[in-house]
Amino acid sequence: MLRKKIELRNGQRATIRPAKPEDAGSVLDYLNCVFGETDYLAFGKGDLDWPIEKERKFIEGYLDSDNKLLIVALVRQSIVGTLGFTGDEKTRLRHTGEFGMAVLRKHWGLGIGAALIECMIEWAKSSGVVRKINLRVRVDNQRALSLYERFGFVREGVVRRQFAVVDKFFDAYFMGLEIDP
Ligand SMILES: CC(C)(COP(=O)(O)OP(=O)(O)OC[C@H]1O[C@@H](n2cnc3c(N)ncnc32)[C@H](O)[C@@H]1OP(=O)(O)O)[C@@H](O)C(=O)NCCC(=O)NCCS
Repeated sequence: MLRKKIELRNGQRATIRPAKPEDAGSVLDYLNCVFGETDYLAFGKGDLDWPIEKERKFIEGYLDSDNKLLIVALVRQSIVGTLGFTGDEKTRLRHTGEFGMAVLRKHWGLGIGAALIECMIEWAKSSGVVRKINLRVRVDNQRALSLYERFGFVREGVVRRQFAVVDKFFDAYFMGLEIDP
């Protein structure tokens, strides 16, 4: 099973592993917190209103799939970051998918984001299915952009009005990384 222990820039240790069904409650608590901390994600504060049972099924679905991945980063047994990659279900598109990620603000800049991406790329290379990883990122999200470019993601185009935050629209870069095992 994909599992990694890393040392963070502040000397703390973190573990990265796939989310388990029994994480459902803590994943929801984490998401509700992280959605209130940033305007760069698809959900804002209070937008995620789904029961634990639904989250448990969601996690099970990811564990059972060969082209989906949901990983969590833990510091002292507490979830501080997540990354979810969703592969397409259609025959001619299932080698592609899009991911989203976040880290709790208190833990930014310690290397957790980089470790999550590294795990996803390793997983994709060994999946035997995934050959292209896509993402959409707000054009003004400098921190995320520099992280993605460090791992070789390239800007493939601009998606206009991708995000609507309160009464303002934001464009996004469509970025991609080709996977060759
Ligand atoms: C983007 C995010 C996941 C990064 O997580 P993280 O754990 O802070 O990432 P890391 O610590 O591994 O790396 C952050 C990098 O950003 C760089 N960085 C920090 N501030 C920056 C800035 N203002 N401009 C450009 N780069 C910046 C750091 O130098 C670091 O790179 P380095 O490791 O080469 O020094 C996190 O900031 C986050 O959750 N943001 C809010 C949600 C979000 O934007 N998600 C992505 C949506 S597409």
